[in-house]
Amino acid sequence: MKKVLLINSSYRKKTTYGVLKRIEAEMTGRGFETEWLHLSEYELQPCRGCEVCIMRGTCVIKDSFSEVEKKLQEADGIVLSSPVYLRQVSGILKTMIDRTCSHYHRPILVGKPILSCVTTNASGAKETLRYLKDITIQWGAIPIGSVAVKLGGIEQSVLDKQIDRFCMILESPKELDQPSWKRVIDFQVQKVLALHVLRQDQPYWEKAGWDQRDYFYENQLSWLKKKIGNLFYQFLSGRMEKNQEKKDGGARES
Ligand SMILES: Cc1cc2nc3c(=O)[nH]c(=O)nc-3n(C[C@H](O)[C@H](O)[C@H](O)COP(=O)(O)O)c2cc1C
Repeated sequence: MKKVLLINSSYRKKTTYGVLKRIEAEMTGRGFETEWLHLSEYELQPCRGCEVCIMRGTCVIKDSFSEVEKKLQEADGIVLSSPVYLRQVSGILKTMIDRTCSHYHRPILVGKPILSCVTTNASGAKETLRYLKDITIQWGAIPIGSVAVKLGGIEQSVLDKQIDRFCMILESPKELDQPSWKRVIDFQVQKVLALHVLRQDQPYWEKAGWDQRDYFYENQLSWLKKKIGNLFYQFLSGRMEKNQEKKDGGARES
């Protein structure tokens, strides 16, 4: 049975929780298993900016983040929710997201469908959902839709439409997913970083076979997206190599 992780990033079990409960009822009704992750119940310290996770793959902070990360990894799909706080996600969710910085360089959530969900009194839903979509893409996951709930609530039919799509993709994500242009180009940037800049990531990318691909998986990638993505990769990696040569030359002269 496929498992969906419901992430609540409000300290309260109120509006956002209420929407998640509605989503949970739909998901279990359609035969999916659900698991809750109330971020406020975990000890999550803010990122200290040391960049050790980027360089060595491990975080220096000893708290509950590894449990959160395990839950993210074990889920087949994720509902990522937040109340809007001053036009952005809640602080606790931002803390969690900051702690996933290494996932951009060594992705562990590739191909997981993510449904974003925000609640607000009136403003900030669009900006917050855009941010969650960008983060989903950075993780190599699949942004399958978004739910914005304002004071007036949300109609069941609107919610159902998002859940229908989420369920469909959950069945066989990598076969059905059609990566957008943005995702294809973002992938190439990640690949250039791994193979030409932060070379410690190269073995990880090679082991996954991503160094040879035009997206993490290519089932639904059109010929044109492969071609343009590849040209972009050639261009950017060429620039990076030239910059490196200049730096090395400068270092030798000084
Ligand atoms: C610190 C804080 C900042 C907020 N900022 C906004 C905002 O920018 N725009 C808005 O319309 N509502 C804002 N709200 C209202 C919440 O987004 C809204 O009540 C949300 O649904 C609360 O979710 P919850 O009941 O799950 O905690 C804010 C609330 C708090 C506590």
